[in-house]
Amino acid sequence: VADHSAERLERDLVRRVHVARRDDALVVLEGFHPLKHALRFGAEVQLVLTCDTAQLGELTRAHGADLLDEIARRTTEISRRAFKQLGPYEPHTGVISVARRREHDGEQLLREHGAGPLVLLEDPRHRGNLGAVIRVAAAADAAGVLVTGEQDPWNPVVVRGSAGLHYALPVARLNVLPSGERPLIAFDPAGEHWQPERMDPDALLAFGAERAGLSQELLARAHQRVRLPMRAGVSSLNLATSVAAALYGLRLTHEATRRAGPAGRLAE
Ligand SMILES: C[S@@+](CC[C@H](N)C(=O)[O-])C[C@H]1O[C@@H](n2cnc3c(N)ncnc32)[C@H](O)[C@@H]1O
Repeated sequence: VADHSAERLERDLVRRVHVARRDDALVVLEGFHPLKHALRFGAEVQLVLTCDTAQLGELTRAHGADLLDEIARRTTEISRRAFKQLGPYEPHTGVISVARRREHDGEQLLREHGAGPLVLLEDPRHRGNLGAVIRVAAAADAAGVLVTGEQDPWNPVVVRGSAGLHYALPVARLNVLPSGERPLIAFDPAGEHWQPERMDPDALLAFGAERAGLSQELLARAHQRVRLPMRAGVSSLNLATSVAAALYGLRLTHEATRRAGPAGRLAE
């Protein structure tokens, strides 16, 4: 009887994960780092399943000791057989969780000022790139990431790419192209030389799709079209690396300007 009820419990847990995959209000976090960041940045985590409690404990001690009690308290161990049924991807860290997505209004984000640059991705195609952009935008302390096009920014593959840092900053879809709420800077390999020291710290930084680049419509709306310098012969940077270069270029420039103070001399 005990065996049957354990099996039934596992079946219910597997079903909850499958239901979560189809629910637009929820997200399936595949692996340890997405879970760690989700908890650190206050996500509502509803379910944590592992097929190896000892390994999860070691990972938590090594990479998220601040969360030891919280993860241990929330975790349910299931058999390896049931774990394999949770979805198409089996994380090597042996943990899959379910959390509530954190929704934001893209148009509202455009209207909020003072929190730093916003990143706009126009119709990105590669989910790994989209996740990597969210991760670097969180690290560089950007105000948020807006996404146009078909990709669901909360797809589990994207959340894997961001290591769960969706919860560290607003990530939202934008259904219409922006119209003047903030200075719009188009990053384009054919633009003019970028001078980050001249840029509004609250600017909207737009990046194009991996193959097609930015649309003519977006380029026509841009206040400026700028290029990250590249060695002769190189056509373009990868989408996520160009976002990283732009955000850190901007951040380091503003930090250096602040250190230099009003006299324009570096204080350190
Ligand atoms: C892989 S690139 C697209 C290449 C596309 N064939 C083009 O010419 O735009 C993806 C995006 O990364 C950004 N990007 C890549 N290299 C860049 C550079 N050197 N300067 C500015 N933006 C760049 C742009 O926003 C571009 O739309």
